[in-house]
Amino acid sequence: INYQLARFEASYGTVEQLPEPTTPEVAVAGRSNVGKSSLLNKVFGRKNLVKVSATPGKTANINFFEVDGIRFVDLPGYGYAKVSMKERERWANLISGYFDQERSFNVVLSLVDIRHEAQKLDLEMVGFLKEQGLPFLVVLTKADKLSRGKQNQQAALLSRQLGVPRDRMIVTSSETGQGIDELKSRIAEACL
Ligand code: GTP
Ligand code: MG
Repeated sequence: INYQLARFEASYGTVEQLPEPTTPEVAVAGRSNVGKSSLLNKVFGRKNLVKVSATPGKTANINFFEVDGIRFVDLPGYGYAKVSMKERERWANLISGYFDQERSFNVVLSLVDIRHEAQKLDLEMVGFLKEQGLPFLVVLTKADKLSRGKQNQQAALLSRQLGVPRDRMIVTSSETGQGIDELKSRIAEACL
């Protein structure tokens, strides 16, 4: 996959607007502020193709990017408390509406912050992916915030809590680039 060719395709605010699933898709899901947009920029090797913000709730739409005939889908973060009930509902509808469609997922990247215990919504997300039998990887983010020893400890804990085998999890950092090459090859494998 030639990531340098990544380009922004379109942004959608409602499920009805989503384009037909005509190409393989790699979807990125996770709590608000977990680092979805930063991870995509790192994978694409681009600084600002995907908008990043220190304020949670930055990505309020579903954004599609296209690379070498593969669609990368940046989903809005779930679980951000500080927006209105109505807006949260819109996000939830967007995310569930996206997964309800018969899309051709090659892999769903379920992002989880490596520093914390599994949160309720993370458990729900991973539970949903298992239930639906969708191919997924758990991507642990912000590894640069922990020592290597602590990273391993947290990865083991989250593997247990989420019920996901350690080899389905990748430890990453969008700051240092840790785990990004491994992630890229796992994505490529899934898109063969
Ligand atoms: P929403 O779009 O609001 O759902 O957030 P998001 O999941 O797309 O997160 P985003 O990439 O916008 O990053 C949120 C904040 O975390 C920003 O301040 C980033 O700079 C920071 N961040 C993201 N990834 C990393 C990482 O690997 N290491 C560190 N230290 N900070 C990170
Ligand atoms: Mg985002």
